[in-house]
Amino acid sequence: MKELLKFITCGSVDDGKSTLIGHMLYDSKLLFADQERALELESKVGSTDGALDYSLLLDGLMAEREQGITIDVAYRYFTTSKRSFIVADTPGHEEYTRNMAVGAAFADVAVILLDATKGVLIQTKRHTRICSLMGIRDFVFIVNKMDLVDYEQARFLEISEELEEFISGFPHHSFKIIPVSATVGDNITNATVNMSWYQDTTLLAYLEDLDLNAEMNVEDFLLPIQRVSRPNHTFRGFQGQVEAGGLKLGDAITVYPSGETALVSRLLAAGSDVTEVVKGQPVTVCLDKEIDCSRGCVMAKGIKPEVGNMFEVTMFWMDDMPLVEGKEYQMKLGTKKIPARIVKIAYKIDVNTGEEQLAETVTKNEIVSCSVLTTEKIVFQKFTENKAMGGLILIDRITNMTSACGVIERAMKDFDNLTWQNVDITKEIREKQLGQKALTLWFTGLSGAGKSTLANALENKLAAMGKHTMLLDGDNIRMGINRDLGFSQEDRTENIRRIAEIAKLMNDAGLIVLTAFISPFAKDREIARSIIGEDFIEIYISTSLEKCESRDVKGLYQKARSGELLEFTGVTSPYEAPEHPEIQIDTAECSVEEATDKLLRELRKWMA
Ligand code: ADX
Repeated sequence: MKELLKFITCGSVDDGKSTLIGHMLYDSKLLFADQERALELESKVGSTDGALDYSLLLDGLMAEREQGITIDVAYRYFTTSKRSFIVADTPGHEEYTRNMAVGAAFADVAVILLDATKGVLIQTKRHTRICSLMGIRDFVFIVNKMDLVDYEQARFLEISEELEEFISGFPHHSFKIIPVSATVGDNITNATVNMSWYQDTTLLAYLEDLDLNAEMNVEDFLLPIQRVSRPNHTFRGFQGQVEAGGLKLGDAITVYPSGETALVSRLLAAGSDVTEVVKGQPVTVCLDKEIDCSRGCVMAKGIKPEVGNMFEVTMFWMDDMPLVEGKEYQMKLGTKKIPARIVKIAYKIDVNTGEEQLAETVTKNEIVSCSVLTTEKIVFQKFTENKAMGGLILIDRITNMTSACGVIERAMKDFDNLTWQNVDITKEIREKQLGQKALTLWFTGLSGAGKSTLANALENKLAAMGKHTMLLDGDNIRMGINRDLGFSQEDRTENIRRIAEIAKLMNDAGLIVLTAFISPFAKDREIARSIIGEDFIEIYISTSLEKCESRDVKGLYQKARSGELLEFTGVTSPYEAPEHPEIQIDTAECSVEEATDKLLRELRKWMA
């Protein structure tokens, strides 16, 4: 079987990407997926002074785009006498960065196009950065449109110099710069006759000869376990795809995280017994003794993968919803799927310039460095050491969409000695004991809106009904556990985070918790919701600023207006109203009694 090479082409239409791919497909004479289009092409031959317009081969893709059909990535297959290829063709514009990331995750090599008349542009850097983040280590830069700069060697050298300096900032195994004219056909599949100063390889020849396994070391072995096969009581085989090195019959292996060792007693590949297997193969491994090994475990030889639960991760964010600190996602790494929380955003990386920027949230198509905590220890490797064991995706637990893909830069040792302990007396048992459903009733609204008054009145009613409750109130908490916090945005965020953690603990104890905090920032309330989970009920006390200010129970609005009190919510600091609170009440429109009755009525469906 011929070896397969998967590559991605990056560049915008103007760079000549379609013409370049079209040329390769046409010259390889095997247009399996494109035969129909090829016919169409033939019918058009001669229409432009007899010259072939190779870009027409990709017209199918463009036409679909024009129809508004979303094409994530177009994969095209072609083969030569030496190798088979799959090319992932992705759109180059910034709004399609996500598509490029998907294509790059699939590819071994990136072919990045640039225009000789324009040189190295910001988009060239963006394409390289995304490909590098997604694990590509072999780069080919195509300096296209050489015909438009009169095939000048000086121009090529100038661009090459800039590229060499730029690429040195990225980890790479190989890189190559080739001068090309896609329209004329120089150096794509045929050597140029127009650039006598270039005696080196063509693009196709380079891709045919590129040695992808240069770093393969068959002394080592790594197999993330995908499935345990037990067709009957005599057979137990561990299945997965070999992600590094090779394995022979009789070899000693270690399984992580348990650290148990055993000898390989049988090896199967493609349904038959074999004596050895290598990287890339799907295999079944049988061992000489029973050991603790299931999906998500990793079998290794010569390599000692790391085990940890807190990581520094670089991620590419692809969700329409922004990333928020504290939120819990499903993380998939290797064959393991596990709940994970984004503990802290360290910084954003400008996708165009590579610059690090401080950030509180991260939106679609941005790159971020952050720390991620998993609920239990997992087996991994740094991404630079192993792509399969250090690459991850995050999945939104509600929408089930892929929110991000990323790589583990390193483990953070501070958490290494912490493990989540499961307790026997669970929340469910405590709820049963107390005869109630634990909830957090999260009151939010301006100062003076009536949060504390209503929470207090509601707690009275709940207590009278025999419910076990606890009220956490802004001013009280700020005099105790949070006395080190002020009213800056950062301090308010920390205030809310701590309160959410406390409410969560009290929910775990089976209590109904009522909280009365301004909690002015939507992001902070989102974090509280993700910490507390399904017990969280947001109650928006929507009394207007005018009304709150006219009450001014504590005289604080007056102080804020006179400048005596800084960063006061509603006056000199913003209040972001909830968009979809579970319950909303305006205390200007009803008495305390009416409001608590309404609350009780609405809460009935959660309290059952
Ligand atoms: S929050 O914004 O972090 O949620 P929290 O509810 O804990 O605020 O505290 C609000 C209470 O602190 C107010 O009811 C008020 O009594 C007092 N306070 C003092 N300074 C401020 C301020 N600058 N902004 C808002 N509340 C303040």
